[in-house]
Amino acid sequence: MDALAASKTAMVTALMRAVHTRCDPAPILDDPWGDRLLPEAALQLLGKFAIAAGGEAVQDSDDIQAVTEALLRANPAYANVIVRARYTEDALESMVASGVTQYVLIGAGFDSYALRKPPGAQHVDVYEVDHPATQSLKTHQLAACGVNGDRRHHFIPADLGEEDLGAALSRSSFDGSRPAFFSWLGVTMYLSRQANMATLESVARHSAPGSQLVFSYIDQALFDAGSGKEKQAFSELEQSVESVDEPFMSGFSPADLARELEGVGLILEEDLSDIQLAAHYDPDGLNRFRSTDKSRLARVSVPGC
Ligand SMILES: C[S@@+](CC[C@H](N)C(=O)[O-])C[C@H]1O[C@@H](n2cnc3c(N)ncnc32)[C@H](O)[C@@H]1O
Repeated sequence: MDALAASKTAMVTALMRAVHTRCDPAPILDDPWGDRLLPEAALQLLGKFAIAAGGEAVQDSDDIQAVTEALLRANPAYANVIVRARYTEDALESMVASGVTQYVLIGAGFDSYALRKPPGAQHVDVYEVDHPATQSLKTHQLAACGVNGDRRHHFIPADLGEEDLGAALSRSSFDGSRPAFFSWLGVTMYLSRQANMATLESVARHSAPGSQLVFSYIDQALFDAGSGKEKQAFSELEQSVESVDEPFMSGFSPADLARELEGVGLILEEDLSDIQLAAHYDPDGLNRFRSTDKSRLARVSVPGC
């Protein structure tokens, strides 16, 4: 098992959710799985990176875990990772209440919803579509944690740069004639505009009317130009993902999003910034989320019902 062939950004986001659950003063998620699902080799590597990034101030620290947690909480993407997970599970909950029984995670990474399904969602089939290198590490780690054999937890390995989402889903029991809920979190920025539009089109084509998708994206304005604090935070993030060979590639423009989605047969229901989401979920600012309006979450639907 080559643990380090898996997506490093997926490991980091899983760990952020666990750190939030464990360390933040007013958690909005209860997701400790990042601590359990990551291999020791990856945790050690992240610890070394955190010590190096912390500079002289932490060189002599023997509490590598504390240094790593501080680094993750200071990351410009931290707020987005937390609020997007909460918003998505809230949207899923209301879809399940209205009768939806299929949840597809596109680029699932180390997401742990399938392991934390609430009592009212035990009957929901969870389909995780991910790059084979990431997914094989996840299934290996799940087995190592003694988690296996849930017949409603489905794994679909697929390189979505090579294979269409619909083709990948057709290799599973997913039923495109029944409404589904899709999430696509922390992925669009790593793909080209063309690949993103192909995936959106695929969701529209292979899911029943009434289906919904939540996806996160970065405002294209940050890719194109800019200056000031937001651009600086973006450049910081850009450098860190590039250093693990997962470079950012593209964003969407909020002003054009509804029209672009319409072009592939989807309706934009809601488009919220991290600032709005953080204000909603942490109104008193207890978690001190560092949020921006250039990091966003869109909820879209498949028309026709
Ligand atoms: C930043 S991680 C996000 C993971 C998870 N959705 C989350 O929010 O924690 C990006 C995910 O996209 C997946 N991914 C990137 N490129 C992909 C591709 N070409 N095909 C399939 N999955 C891909 C990675 O394997 C990884 O799981």
